[in-house]
Amino acid sequence: MSKVIGIIGAGQMGSGIAQTVAAHGMEVLLADVSLDVAEKAHAGIDRALGKLVGRGKIEIADAEATLGRITPVADYAPMERADLIIEAATEKEAIKQAIFEKAGQVLAADAIMASNTSSIPITRMANYSPDPARFIGLHFFNPVPVMGLIEVIPGLATAQSTTDRTVAFAEGLGKQVVLSQDEPGFVVNRILLPMINEAVFVLGQSTAGIEDIDKGCRLGLNHPMGPLQLADFVGLDTCLDIIMVLYKTTRDAKYRPAPLLVKYVEAGWLGRKTGRGFYDYSGEEPVATR
Ligand code: 3HC
Repeated sequence: MSKVIGIIGAGQMGSGIAQTVAAHGMEVLLADVSLDVAEKAHAGIDRALGKLVGRGKIEIADAEATLGRITPVADYAPMERADLIIEAATEKEAIKQAIFEKAGQVLAADAIMASNTSSIPITRMANYSPDPARFIGLHFFNPVPVMGLIEVIPGLATAQSTTDRTVAFAEGLGKQVVLSQDEPGFVVNRILLPMINEAVFVLGQSTAGIEDIDKGCRLGLNHPMGPLQLADFVGLDTCLDIIMVLYKTTRDAKYRPAPLLVKYVEAGWLGRKTGRGFYDYSGEEPVATR
């Protein structure tokens, strides 16, 4: 379906989405808070593609063509050409609201606006966009180029045609789609975040250390990463944001955040992106900190 895709938010998720969309032949307009940030993300995608070339996964010509399809932009104005605008900013509702209101001013008459939110209600955020019938949740998983799933979440006001076009777009990226009702955490994060949160309780109660908790889930459950490794990978601030959405929207005490998770976020130990979370990433190999 879509040929020009606007992506707002050029962090870990936005960059991965941009790389994947461009690798599937579509043009990407990539925006963040400034052109400089979007250009840095473009350079990061260049490095990611370079690694794939180095490992013989893709041809150099394909990497160049993919990168060439991604244009960092200073503001949203060029996205008036976009068939689909995907918001992939921080998991803070006020930030997303400002983006939807601003991008809504350039959204083409038949274009779709989607949010990559991990957990914030789609029905509520649709009201920040010019047309709730063309607003939808489009939830990618990290690392986007590798993970096989996209969740599609229609809000109460989302038109069926919007859902159909969004599913077609997601499948066009070579991903499988799970449709979820607009309930807190959708399907996957509703299950994943309580597991991660529980792992932090287990650590906080000294039932086992970081490495044993992760080893237990890697070997005992065949998960590729243990829950604390995965928390560092996702970002501890994002994990806390999601569990807080589950807690606040359901008011169910089973979603109360583990005190140690709150402390780590308050300390600024956010995982890989800050060089320290449950593991320290300053050396060659990650080292457990407790
Ligand atoms: N771009 C393209 N390919 C990439 C890549 C990238 N950025 N990063 C890794 N890859 C590819 C590698 O080339 C490799 O390909 P190959 O199998 O064909 O050789 C493959 O992915 C595996 O990579 P590595 O060998 O470097 O590393 P691992 O085997 O250790 O796998 C991992 C890394 C794929 C991240 C794996 O550990 C994993 O699947 N972890 C769990 C990830 C997960 O659960 N993600 C979901 C998080 S929740 C979420 O995102 C939702 C949000 O709302 C919170």
